[in-house]
Amino acid sequence: MFETERLILRELLPTDEEAMFELDSDPEVHKYLGNSPVEEIEDIRKIIKFIRQQYIDNGVGRLAVIEKSTNTFIGWAGLKLFKNSINNHSNFYELGYRFIKKYWGQGFATEAAKACLNYGFEKLNLKEIYAMTDKNNLTSKKVLEKTGFTYVETFDDNGEQTDWFKIIRRA
Ligand SMILES: CC(C)(COP(=O)(O)OP(=O)(O)OC[C@H]1O[C@@H](n2cnc3c(N)ncnc32)[C@H](O)[C@@H]1OP(=O)(O)O)[C@@H](O)C(=O)NCCC(=O)NCCS
Repeated sequence: MFETERLILRELLPTDEEAMFELDSDPEVHKYLGNSPVEEIEDIRKIIKFIRQQYIDNGVGRLAVIEKSTNTFIGWAGLKLFKNSINNHSNFYELGYRFIKKYWGQGFATEAAKACLNYGFEKLNLKEIYAMTDKNNLTSKKVLEKTGFTYVETFDDNGEQTDWFKIIRRA
């Protein structure tokens, strides 16, 4: 668990299921995520279980983001270990984030992303962190640029034109 000026990042809990459902059942949230929002709360339970298993197996995984002033779950952010090959890379750490729509546009993704990068470089001692986003997801690309990522290339991810970003730890 770690915190920023406005946010707490902590492990995802089974009790986050309702807020997670609000997040992942929203078609707008899923616009650049394959356009298949979650329809059943049971699917959310599986996702939370899956992420909690990653904490155990990999020592890292997406984290719940809580807004401190209201103690409210607003979304998730964090690093994920990708073991399988994607864009000719495997066993790499990727930064991701996703927020409930009513919390967009307040700098929360950028604030959470910076804290996750700091955690990855300082605590996990990573040398590089990657990120991917739909080529048309301009907001996400802006967040990546604001947090110091560099665009590397565009690749085909199962038919989706996807932008690949990288950030290297400063010496
Ligand atoms: C992407 C997402 C996490 C961004 O969250 P957020 O908290 O609104 O992001 P921030 O406020 O930190 O930063 C957004 C930036 O994008 C800019 N932006 C917003 N819409 C934009 C657009 N259409 N084109 C260019 N920039 C845009 C904002 O102005 C802001 O930059 P600024 O601070 O310089 O003004 C949020 O929109 C989301 O959850 N989307 C759905 C899930 C998703 O796409 N996740 C990412 C998958 S890779």
